[in-house]
Amino acid sequence: MELNVSASENINGTLVLPLYEGSESVPESCEVGMATSLKSQINRVLSEGDFKAKKKSIITLLGGEDGKAILVGLGKSDKCTVHDFRKAGASVTAGLKKSHGSDLTVRFDDAGISDMAAFAEGMMLRDYSYDNYKQKDEDAEEDLDVNVRIACSEKESTELTGLVDTYRGVCKGVHLSRDLGNCPPNDMYPEVFADMAWEWAKDYDNIEVTIINYEQAMKAGMGGLVAVGMGSARKPCMVIFEMNSHVEGRCPLLVGKGITFDTGGISLKPGANMDEMKYDMGGSATVFGTMEALAQTGHAGKVVAITCMAENMPSSNAQRPGDVITTLSGKTIEILNTDAEGRLVLSDGLWKAGEFDPEYIIDFATLTGACVVALGHEATGLWSNDDDFRTRIHEAGNAVDELAWPMPLLPAFEKEMTDSKIADTRNLGAGRWGGANTAAAFLKQFVPNRGYEKDGEQITWAHMDIAGTYWGSKTNTMVKNGATGIHVRTIHHLITQS
Ligand code: BES
Ligand code: MN
Ligand code: ZN
Repeated sequence: MELNVSASENINGTLVLPLYEGSESVPESCEVGMATSLKSQINRVLSEGDFKAKKKSIITLLGGEDGKAILVGLGKSDKCTVHDFRKAGASVTAGLKKSHGSDLTVRFDDAGISDMAAFAEGMMLRDYSYDNYKQKDEDAEEDLDVNVRIACSEKESTELTGLVDTYRGVCKGVHLSRDLGNCPPNDMYPEVFADMAWEWAKDYDNIEVTIINYEQAMKAGMGGLVAVGMGSARKPCMVIFEMNSHVEGRCPLLVGKGITFDTGGISLKPGANMDEMKYDMGGSATVFGTMEALAQTGHAGKVVAITCMAENMPSSNAQRPGDVITTLSGKTIEILNTDAEGRLVLSDGLWKAGEFDPEYIIDFATLTGACVVALGHEATGLWSNDDDFRTRIHEAGNAVDELAWPMPLLPAFEKEMTDSKIADTRNLGAGRWGGANTAAAFLKQFVPNRGYEKDGEQITWAHMDIAGTYWGSKTNTMVKNGATGIHVRTIHHLITQS
């Protein structure tokens, strides 16, 4: 899909008309240049009540004498938010067929610039399918090549173009996150991810990527990353992304869980739906996608990201329940369940983050099934050691319609995760209750203090458990299926707008 803003009065190809509930005829402001026959066709449909423009409704008018149209319902005008515009845009893309032709012109009546931009954003976000592994099918409705023009007034055009350009860039980041997540695990493993990051960085002269390979990770003492990855023939690594590193001062730092496949290891998972554990690198994909979004939109600030890549396999070289490992922080962990591996790789990623003296750290992880039990597929779990920071992230999520729900970081959970008889911490809670909270409390043990000072202040940190939101959401209308690419938009918004 090519999408552009245009202040011209022509209608190219099929007209896309977003309408408020109760519209009984074509709004006057949309009539310019519209063929009389098309206008009367639409007017008849509206006046006879055949299309009520309710939220989520959409119809196509074909076969008229002069032109085709897609009518999209926005619901009641006083209740319609920017999120409804985004969803309406996505529903147009979702419903596109070859019969709509290769050109579309979207015309709004009484919409603000941010509403129009959101509609365009929704159209672009939903324009995604992962068909790298399918033979080409010329007749497939999915491979539509359409040119979309978002019509606006001369006066609106500069601002709207700017917004749409930004969303186009952010959307590339979202789609990259989805591509990484959807890629099958035989082709997406730590080294491949690292190579992709390396190649990607060549496109930008303000980005450097550093790869810490298996040998280097062992030498450095990254015991968590090594323990999880050593059971696989595909060795673990850490990938560090630095954007605008010359900029002075503290910067955001993102950390991602990148388990390219999670079998559970020796604590093997049951077979049902195990294929979905290819998405267990969703945290690292979120981080990589966010860097792409920032790079595409020309972000001038410094940002650092760290992804912890490993494949969790059972083998004779795999770690065992009962093992005690020493992490980069020097803290030891008693391994009680090798399926609680995300927290192990993150322990090293979080500790490493301290080297960059960041303003704050946010980690992203498909960390616990318990988080999905708590929040379903509707919201990401959000924990932080700073209430104001947690609120800022929650609000950034609300601003882009990606919910991140506040969850408690309680001393009792920390106590539970630090009462091992043999080590400093344990990777499993004492019982199964509150599993998402105990995981978050575990991670907190590895968030460094400023300057690694023993009694210093802990760096501002938030943890986002995307186990329920990175894939499998039926209500996320921005995506058809597979990886959602969630929170690329949230974090782009957080870093650039708040
Ligand atoms: N990657 C999983 C979490 C997960 C499970 C995400 C299902 C999405 C759907 C994680 O590594 C894991 O296995 N967690 C365990 C932790 C437990 C052993 C403490 C879990 O949630 O069962
Ligand atoms: Mn696991
Ligand atoms: Zn996992």
